[in-house]
Amino acid sequence: MAFLDVRDLHTFYRDTEALKGASLDVEEGEIVALLGSNGAGKTTTLRTISGLQRARSGAVIFDGSDLTRARPHEIVSAGLVHVPEGRRIFSGLTVDENLSLGAYLSRGDRKRMSEDRDAVYALFPRLVERRRQVAGTLSGGEQQMLAIGRALMSRPRLLALDEPSMGLAPAVVRAVGQVIQRIRAAGTTILMVEQNVRQALRLADRAFVLETGRVVLSGPAGELAADPRVQAAYLGGSASVDEPPDGTVP
Ligand SMILES: Nc1ncnc2c1ncn2[C@@H]1O[C@H](COP(=O)(O)OP(=O)(O)O)[C@@H](O)[C@H]1O
Ligand SMILES: [Mg+2]
Repeated sequence: MAFLDVRDLHTFYRDTEALKGASLDVEEGEIVALLGSNGAGKTTTLRTISGLQRARSGAVIFDGSDLTRARPHEIVSAGLVHVPEGRRIFSGLTVDENLSLGAYLSRGDRKRMSEDRDAVYALFPRLVERRRQVAGTLSGGEQQMLAIGRALMSRPRLLALDEPSMGLAPAVVRAVGQVIQRIRAAGTTILMVEQNVRQALRLADRAFVLETGRVVLSGPAGELAADPRVQAAYLGGSASVDEPPDGTVP
């Protein structure tokens, strides 16, 4: 069984079925990308996996445990931590204070917390200079680093990232990519949602393409990058002549 096994999720917002049987799997140590257009259900998939949204049916199995009906804090305790889209940091608190809030699993264990904080600062040297600065004054890229750093404070075994490079300048997007690679090299498995398909396929081992609540394509990132359907729909053309002219993924 896979490290994370997401099976046939059906998730609704009132009467709207946002996930219509979404399935994916992640092996330990992998970087897996979840791709798809706006509204495809990527965020809903991550929110369902991390217990913020309840599936009407389907299952989320993480490291052999059924987390389908677990509460969000139980899922974090199990080692699955979600960085939501839009970098929700506490903008009125300092960088240091934001990291402390991410460390609620080590509550009371000052030594563990300070070790984890040192590890985060080693990964993000720019945050060290700003540790006493109010987070709302950081640049977009620094806020994203802080959001990721805060998640790392709970020592995730699987980190789920929702659009970590959204709205960032190209150089910052590359920096976020390097951070993701370093986090994986340090032993954390990554599931990332990306609109930036080029960056995602460059970083990921495998990818899943979601369309209207279902996975329509999946495979090794290199194969998907070469797939004419992916090129036409997400990589700005260079598709073969028999592709549909509207660039949709059939
Ligand atoms: N809070 C919500 N209430 C109602 N519908 C929603 C809500 N959030 C998302 N949806 C709908 O669910 C579908 C999937 O959305 P989402 O998971 O945010 O897609 P993505 O992250 O791929 O852009 C879309 O049709 C969207 O309009
Ligand atoms: Mg989204």
